[in-house]
Amino acid sequence: MSEAKADIGVLGMGTMGAMLALNIAEEGFETALFNRTTSKAFGVRDDNPELAEKLHPQETLEAFVQSLKTPRVVLIMVNAGKPVDEQIEHLKPLLAQGDIVIDGGNADFNDTVRRNKAMDGSGIHFVGMGVSGGELGARHGPSIMVGGDKAVWERLAPILKPVAAQYDGAPCVAWLGTDGAGHFVKTIHNGIEYADMQMIAEVYGILRDGAGMSAPDMGRVFADWNTRGLQSYLIEITATVLAENDPETGKPLVDLIVDEAGQKGTGRWSVIEAQKLGIGATTLESAVSARGVSSRRKERADAEKIYGTLDLAPADFRADAEGLKELEEALETAKIIAYAQGYAIMAAASQEWKWNLPLGDIARIWRAGCIIRSNFLDDIAKAYESGETVINLLQTPTFSGRVSKGQAALRRVVSKAVLSGVPVPALAAALSYFDDYRRARGTTNLTQGQRDLFGAHTFNRFDKDGAQHHHWPAV
Ligand code: 6PG
Repeated sequence: MSEAKADIGVLGMGTMGAMLALNIAEEGFETALFNRTTSKAFGVRDDNPELAEKLHPQETLEAFVQSLKTPRVVLIMVNAGKPVDEQIEHLKPLLAQGDIVIDGGNADFNDTVRRNKAMDGSGIHFVGMGVSGGELGARHGPSIMVGGDKAVWERLAPILKPVAAQYDGAPCVAWLGTDGAGHFVKTIHNGIEYADMQMIAEVYGILRDGAGMSAPDMGRVFADWNTRGLQSYLIEITATVLAENDPETGKPLVDLIVDEAGQKGTGRWSVIEAQKLGIGATTLESAVSARGVSSRRKERADAEKIYGTLDLAPADFRADAEGLKELEEALETAKIIAYAQGYAIMAAASQEWKWNLPLGDIARIWRAGCIIRSNFLDDIAKAYESGETVINLLQTPTFSGRVSKGQAALRRVVSKAVLSGVPVPALAAALSYFDDYRRARGTTNLTQGQRDLFGAHTFNRFDKDGAQHHHWPAV
C-alpha cells in the first residue's frame, strides 16, 4: 500500500494487538500493522488470508505512520508501563496536529493522566482505552472503556462501535470521561473480576473440602447455577474448568493445577486507588491478598504442619438441594456487595477526578464482551436508569430486597466455614462490610476518643457543635 489509506494503525502485534487488528479489519477498516519484529506483523496478515486485503503490515514505523489517513489514528497495544512511553516518544516526531494516539493496554490510569498532560500543547490527542474480554473478546467483540477528549471520542466512535461486543444491539463501548477515566474504570473492572473469581473459588473450596464433592460434580453445580441469578461468564467458565479432564491421566485437570495464582497488577491497583479515596473495598482487597497468600505455597505447607487442618465437618456442608441453594444464595448476596464496593470506588473517583463517570453506562458496556459480563450487570444498569440518585447500590430497591433476603444464607455459609476452618476471606469480608455499612451507630466513637487522648486529634459530639478536645486522665 503506497498511498496513505489506512483508517487506523495498530502498533504491537502481541495477542491482544493482533486480535484487535483482525477484529477491526473484519469490520471493514483498512488497518495498518506494525511490530518491532516486523515479521510478526506480516505473519498476522499472512495467517489470515480472508482479511489480507484489509491488513497492511509495514516495515518501518515511518512507513506505518505514512500509511495512515490524516488525521491519523494509532492504537498502541504493547505491554503497560515503559514500553508505552517509548512508543509514544518514537511516534511523536512522526505525527502531526489532530492525530490521535490510543493506548489500549492495561495501563495504570495515573500514567494515562500523566501522558495526557505531556501531550498538552502538541496538538496530538491521547486516549486511554480499557479493553476487556481477553483474546477472544479482542477478536470478536470486547468491552471498551474510553477516556480522553469527548470530541476525539466522536471521531473514534465509528470505528470502535462495530468492533465492540454488542448487547441487545447496543455496542459495549462508551466514552467515560477525560484523561484517565477509561483506564481507571478498566482497573476497577479488574478489581471486581478478582473479587468475583475469589468468591467463586471460596465456594469451590467449601464444596471440595467441606462437602467432599468431586470436580465433575461441582462442574454440574456451577453449570446449574449459570441458568439463574448467578448467570455470568465467570460461572460458565468455572463449570467448564471443573468438568475438564486431563487427557494424559484421565483425572480432573483442576486437581492437577498448582494452587498459586498469578496477577499482573490491575487488581492491586484497584485496591490502592480505593484506599487513596477512602473507600472500603474489602472484597477486592481480600481477593488480591488471597492471591498473594496462595503464591506462598511452601510457607502454607509449613504452616499446615504446625497447625494441622481443623477437623473439617463435612456434615455441616450438605451438597443436597437445600445446602446448594444456601450456597447459591450466599454467593449471589456476596457478589452484590462486591459490585457495590467496586461501584463505590468509581463514584468516589468520579468526584475526585471530576470525570462525571456515567455509572449506568459502565454497567451497560460491561453486559457483554468483558470478563465480568453477566445479566446481573443489566440489573445494575437498570438501578442507575431508574432516575433516582444512587448513593450506593446497596441502598437501591433493586438490590436491597435481594440482600435483605440473601444475608441469612451468607451468614450461615460464612459461619460454617469459619467453624470448619475453610477459608472464605472474600465472603466473610462481604458480610462484615455489609454489617458495618448498615449499622447507624458504629464503634469509631471509641477510636476518636483514643486518638484524642494520645494525639489531641479532637472529636465531634452529638450534643455540641465544632471539634472538641477533652483533658483525659494521664495514662
Ligand atoms: C480482561 C482481563 C485482562 C487481565 C487478565 C489477567 O478484562 O480482559 O481483566 O485484562 O489482564 O484477566 O489479569 P491478572 O493476570 O491480573 O489475573
